[in-house]
Amino acid sequence: MTTLTLDASLYSGEETYKREQATLLRRAWRLVGHESMLAQAGDYLTDLVGGAPVIAVRGSDGEIRAFHNVCRHRAGPLATDFSGNCGKALTCKYHGWRYALDGRLRAAVDFGAADGFDPREFTLFPARVESWRGFLFVNLDANAAPVLEELAPLEAMWAQRDITVHPFTLRRTHDIACNWKTYTENYLEGYHVKAVHPELSSQIEADQYTVQMHGSISLHEAPPTGGGATNGLWAWAWPDLGINVYHHGLMVERVTPLGPDRTRLDYLYFYDPAHRDELDWMLKSSDQVTAEDKDICERVQANLNAGVYRAGILSPKHETGVAWFQARIREAHANPSPVRATA
Ligand code: FES
Repeated sequence: MTTLTLDASLYSGEETYKREQATLLRRAWRLVGHESMLAQAGDYLTDLVGGAPVIAVRGSDGEIRAFHNVCRHRAGPLATDFSGNCGKALTCKYHGWRYALDGRLRAAVDFGAADGFDPREFTLFPARVESWRGFLFVNLDANAAPVLEELAPLEAMWAQRDITVHPFTLRRTHDIACNWKTYTENYLEGYHVKAVHPELSSQIEADQYTVQMHGSISLHEAPPTGGGATNGLWAWAWPDLGINVYHHGLMVERVTPLGPDRTRLDYLYFYDPAHRDELDWMLKSSDQVTAEDKDICERVQANLNAGVYRAGILSPKHETGVAWFQARIREAHANPSPVRATA
């Protein structure tokens, strides 16, 4: 049986972009970081979930909560950087309203007397936050299945291999001029490795690259040749998260759509500090692989936009991961469900 690719029209245009943000990405679990990044009360992480700004913060009671990063006064941001510590309150950057770390409005600073203004009605909009092995996931949809259910196949793989998660080491970002699906599909197959990544190709047995799908997880393996830090294990968690496992650490890779043909790659490294030399080598290798992927993905995107190519065909040997992803994209477009807000 042949499997056709998605139509090229799904890789461009504001309407498709907004539909995927609203009915696909906002209903999925989004990795915002790791508990080790929120060690103290007031530590926070920000992110975009389907284009919606969110913030996760550790409260003075030790609990981690998530909210929309949107002030209830006139929609100012509570934090504008990726991470930090806000002390005892989340303070809006616009006019300074202060919220307790549990989201309650504590002070509408210098607001003046206003009849009928009850601060209890201006608590921050909440979002769901759940943890898997210390990784924090946010979901804007009250109807979404628990994250542990979604990641059960990943948990099984993790337990079998006894993978260690070291404390957070560093973050790197790369912007790519392509649709988020163009990049994701590139990640989901090893077919291109020999042609696009000659160096990486020498570090794995590319001919033995395998891809298996288990529910929301696509698991990729290729035996390492011993010539690098990779141990030949990658996973993709639907819809936007790559997990790259190395000998002494791992990197999680978040894909963030910023426009119909603009995507941010956000790499979070968790590495054994005793193997800093391996991390340095890894960062160099990662820069090279990302630059190679950026180049090919941007060229593919230009060709998708040019209007000649409409749809192609997927290899049953190498591109089952792409077929899995595209089937889910088709399903999301065929059955769009609105997000039910968390109460
Ligand atoms: Fe937040 Fe005004 S918008 S205090």
